[in-house]
Amino acid sequence: MKGKILVTGGTGYIGSHTVVELQNAGYDVVIIDNLSNSNIEVLDGIEKITGVRPVFVKGDCTDLATLTKLFEDNPGINGIINFAASKAVGESVQKPLLYYYNNLTTLINLLKLMPQYGTKGIVFSSSCTVYGEPDKNPVDETAPIKKATSPYGNTKQISEEIITDYINSGAPIKSIILRYFNPVGAHPSAEIGELPNGVPQNLIPYLTQTAIGIRKELSVFGDDYNTPDGSCIRDFINVVDLAKAHVTALARMLEDKSEEKLEIFNLGTGVGLSVLELINSFERATGVKVPHKIVGRRSGDIEKVWAEPKKANEVLGWKATTSIDDTMRSAWNWQLKLRERGIM
Ligand code: WQD
Repeated sequence: MKGKILVTGGTGYIGSHTVVELQNAGYDVVIIDNLSNSNIEVLDGIEKITGVRPVFVKGDCTDLATLTKLFEDNPGINGIINFAASKAVGESVQKPLLYYYNNLTTLINLLKLMPQYGTKGIVFSSSCTVYGEPDKNPVDETAPIKKATSPYGNTKQISEEIITDYINSGAPIKSIILRYFNPVGAHPSAEIGELPNGVPQNLIPYLTQTAIGIRKELSVFGDDYNTPDGSCIRDFINVVDLAKAHVTALARMLEDKSEEKLEIFNLGTGVGLSVLELINSFERATGVKVPHKIVGRRSGDIEKVWAEPKKANEVLGWKATTSIDDTMRSAWNWQLKLRERGIM
C-alpha cells in the first residue's frame, strides 16, 4: 500500500469521489465524517466502485478528543485531505458563528495533531470564492484575494492564512491548497454523486431535480449581467477530474516531488460557461428539457469567474479532461439512479 490517508468529510460530494481515486491509486483510506450533510450509504457506493470499504469513523472534527482517538486507533496516517466544512454561502450569512467555529476549529485541530503523529502533508479544500469578483479572467493564483462576500468565503481565506502562518512558524508539515472553481457531475458508475440535504442551493442538483420533475422549474438568477447572454459565467469542473487532482497533490507532498512546503493551485478547466449555456449543454447531452425561467439576481453572486489552469497543468501535472457534455450525462445518470433506488 502507498500509505494511509485521513479524509475528513469523506462521505460528502467531493470527499467520496476523492476516496475512490485514492483507493484506485493504492492508498489506505480512513474517513471521519459527522454525517451532517451526507449519508452513511455513501460507503456502500464507494465499496461498489472500488471493492474496498474505507475505515469509517463517525465523528466531529471540531472535537480534539475524537480526532486524537482516531489517530491513536489508526496509526501511521501519512497525509490528510480536509473536506470537512460547512459550505453553503447563503447559510453562512445567517449562521456565521457556526461557520467560523466548524471550519476553523476543524483545521486547527488537524494541524495541531499532525506533528504529534508524524503526518507529513495536508491537502486543503479551498475555493475560487477567495478571489471574489476577479478584476480579470481567466484567474491565476497571483490574482488578488478580495474581501470575502460571505462568512463561508472568509473561512476559506482565514484557513489559508492559518496554514501559511503555521508552516512559516516552522511546523514540520507540508500543505497544498487547492482552489476549486465549480465542481459538477457524478462518478460514471452513478454509484456516488451530489446529494444535498433539502432544497439544493447550487445549480446542478437543482437542474437535475427539475429535469426529473421533483422541482417545477429552474430559476436562472439574472440575465442582465455584462456577459454574452446576460447570465453568470462559471468554470464547471468535473468532480472526478477534481478528485484526481487531490491524489496528484498528495503524492507530490508525500513523495517530496517539490521543495516547497506550501503550494497553491487553481483547479478549473480554463473554460467559462454561462448558466444558460450549461442548461443547453445538459439538454443537448441528455435529450431532456429543463423547464426554466429568468428571475432576479441572487445577492452575492459573482458575475464571471473562470480559471487559468496553467500552473496546475504544468507544475502539478494535472489537467481536467472530461467534456461538459459527458459531465452533464453523469449528473443525469446519477439523478436517474436516485429515482431507481426510490431515494428521490
Ligand atoms: C452557480 C451559478 C448562480 C442555482 C458556490 C460557492 C463555491 C462552491 C460552489 C462550495 C450562479 C446560478 C444557481 C440556481 C441559478 N461552494 N444559479 N439558479 O455560487 O458559483 O459557487 O458554490 O464548494 O465556493 O461560492 O455555485 O451552483 O450556487 O451557482 O441560476 O438555482 O448558477 O446564480 O451564477 P456558486 P452555484
